[in-house]
Amino acid sequence: MGAWEIGNGMFAWLTATFRPGTTLLELGSGAGSVRLGSYFRAVSVEHDSKWLEDGAKRGCPVVYAPIEDGWYAKQVVVALMRAIRPAVLLVDGPPSSIGRRGVMCLAEGLGSFGVEAVVFDDTEREHEAKLVDDFVSAVAGRFTTVRRFADEGKSFTAVQLWT
Ligand SMILES: C[S@@+](CC[C@H](N)C(=O)[O-])C[C@H]1O[C@@H](n2cnc3c(N)ncnc32)[C@H](O)[C@@H]1O
Repeated sequence: MGAWEIGNGMFAWLTATFRPGTTLLELGSGAGSVRLGSYFRAVSVEHDSKWLEDGAKRGCPVVYAPIEDGWYAKQVVVALMRAIRPAVLLVDGPPSSIGRRGVMCLAEGLGSFGVEAVVFDDTEREHEAKLVDDFVSAVAGRFTTVRRFADEGKSFTAVQLWT
């Protein structure tokens, strides 16, 4: 398992929590996208042409979103979420050099996309843990369960949204 990929612990939690074929939108593609695609109807968003091509070579559905104002072009992500209505949103990009804080723009209207869980990778990093706290505070009108898991030297945090 490469350091850039989702860990075994996250994959185990996801597959124990959601049925095969559940729609998952992954922000940030990589080698782990193949594994996600073996269980989920997974679609990835990617800003970097290198990893866009890599994903395409691996047979993963990857949608290009350029970085605009410090995050993926919001209109691309929102249009994709409206089109595929992911039950799971996995926040594993963009890389730290760009930052993931732009995902905050999705928090308030999350209910309209049908999202049941938002999973943040790398939350052993203080700024990613703070992002989770801020995201949960901004999710409007939904009861949330937030659980952080250790995962082979790193951590991920699952935010489940209940109706
Ligand atoms: C943490 S990675 C995403 C990894 C992906 N979710 C996975 O499980 O394989 C975040 C970003 O880093 C880049 N990236 C992906 N794999 C990489 C690698 N092995 N080495 C360097 N950068 C990588 C891509 O631009 C990706 O969007």
